[in-house]
Amino acid sequence: MAGIVIVGAQWGDEGKGKVVDLLAERADLVIRFQGGNNAGHTIVRDGVSWKFHLIPSGILYPGKLCAIGNGVVIDPKVLTDELDQLRAKGIDLSGLRISANAHLIMPYHMLLDHAGETKLGKLQIGTTRRGIGPCYADKAARLGIRMQDLLDEKILRKKIYTALAPKQLMLRPFAKDPELDLHTMTEEYRILGHRLEAYIADTPPIAWRALDRDGLVLFEGAQGALLDIDHGTYPFVTSSNTVAGAACAGAGVGPRALDEVWGIAKAYATRVGAGPFPTELEEPLGEQIREAGGEFGTTTGRPRRTGWLDLVALRYATRINGLTGIVLTKLDVLTGIDPLHVGVRYLGPEGATFDEFPYHQSIVHKVNGDLIELPGWHEDISGVRSLDELPANAQAYLDFIADYLGIPIVMVGVGPARDEMIWTGAAERLKPAAA
Ligand code: GDP
Ligand code: IMO
Ligand code: MG
Repeated sequence: MAGIVIVGAQWGDEGKGKVVDLLAERADLVIRFQGGNNAGHTIVRDGVSWKFHLIPSGILYPGKLCAIGNGVVIDPKVLTDELDQLRAKGIDLSGLRISANAHLIMPYHMLLDHAGETKLGKLQIGTTRRGIGPCYADKAARLGIRMQDLLDEKILRKKIYTALAPKQLMLRPFAKDPELDLHTMTEEYRILGHRLEAYIADTPPIAWRALDRDGLVLFEGAQGALLDIDHGTYPFVTSSNTVAGAACAGAGVGPRALDEVWGIAKAYATRVGAGPFPTELEEPLGEQIREAGGEFGTTTGRPRRTGWLDLVALRYATRINGLTGIVLTKLDVLTGIDPLHVGVRYLGPEGATFDEFPYHQSIVHKVNGDLIELPGWHEDISGVRSLDELPANAQAYLDFIADYLGIPIVMVGVGPARDEMIWTGAAERLKPAAA
C-alpha cells in the first residue's frame, strides 16, 4: 500500500480531517491536492479541537512531511495566521512544504466572490466567500498569481497589475478600497511571501521520493464528490475537481501512485450552502440530527442541512472516485433514532424513478429520495471498537450500505475522539499504535 486517497463522498464535512490524522501516524507524507480555505477539517485530540483550513491534517505529528500541493489555492494571510496559531501552541512545523506552483487568493478574489453572490440574490450558491471560485477562474484564465511570484517584487507587481486590468468594471464599486491599491497589495503580499519563503518547495518530487521508497503517501481531499465542479450538482458546487483523480494533477503524481481510494461518508447526509439535496430531512428530526452531530460549519459556522443517507448519491460517488473502501463516520449520531431511513433510488415528477444519479440539473432539483426503513438501535456505541460488538441493527445498517455500494466499509466512526473508531479490513494494518 503506497498511495491512499482520502476524499469526501458526499457534500463535504464527512470527517476527512479525523481520518487523515489517524492514518498519518504511519504516513511518510500527507499532501492536500485541491480546494483552499473553504475547507475546514477538524481533529479532536485529548479533548482539544483543532481546525485546519489549509494545513494538511498530519501536522500534529512532529516533523511529519505535510505538503500543500500545486492544486490548492492559498490565501497567504489565512495560511500565515494558521501557522502563527500552531506555532503559539508549540506545534513543530518543520515538516511543512508549500508548492511553489500553488495559486494565491488575492484581495480582489474575495471581493469578487462577495459581489458575485450578492448579484445572484436568491440564486446564490452559498459559497464560503473565501475567494475560491474567482481564484480558480484566474488560474484557468492564466491570470493567476502563484506562490513563487511572491519571491520577486517586480514580477509580483506586474502580475497583479495584469490580473486587475480585466476586472476593473466588476471591481468599480470597490475602487476606493485601500486593499486594491497596487502598491499596498504588492507590499503586503511581498511581506507574506517573505514569511512563507522557508516552506516554499517543489512538492511533486517530495511525493515521488516517498513513493519510490514504498512509503505511505496520503492524498488529503477537501469538499466532497457532489461538490465536484464536473460531477457535482453544478452550479451548486465548488470550483475544483474534488474526485480522487484530481489527486494526480493536484499533487503531481501519476494514476498508478493511487493504490487505495477511500471515500469518507457520514452515516447520514449533510450539506452546507444551497443546491439540491434529495434526502433532506424536515424539522424536527433534521434539527435533532443537527444538534446531535454538531452540524455547524467549521469554516463559516453556518448550520448544515441534514438528511438521510443517500445511497444513490453515494454509489455515484463510489463510481466517479473509483472508491475501494468506505469510511463511515458518525454512526453514533444515529443512536436512538428508530426507525432509520436510507434513500435507495430517486422519485421524480409524474412517477419517474431513477436508480442512478441523474445527470440533468432540472431532474436533480426535483427528485426526492425513495426511502426504505431500517431498524435503529438504542445502545451507546461510542465505546465499541469492533464490528461484532455493535448492536445487531447497527451491524445490519452497515451491511446494507456495503452490499448496496459493492465495496467494503474499512473504518466506522463512533465518536469525534481519535480512539472512537472501529478499524476493519484493509484499514486494520494502518491502525495507530495507541488506538
Ligand atoms: P471534514 O471537513 O471532512 O474534515 O469534516 P469536518 O471536520 O468539517 O466535520 C466533521 C465533524 O464531525 C468534526 O467536528 C469531527 O470532529 C466530527 N466527527 C468525525 N468523526 C466523527 C464520528 O465518528 N462521530 C462523531 N460524533 N463526530 C465525528
Ligand atoms: P470540507 O473540506 C462543506 C460548499 C459551500 C458552497 C459550495 C461552494 O470541510 O469538507 P466555495 O466557497 O467552495 O466556492 O463554495 O461548496 N463548500 C463546502 N461544504 N465542506 C467543505 O469543505 C466545503 N467547501 C466548500 O458551502 O455550497
Ligand atoms: Mg469540513
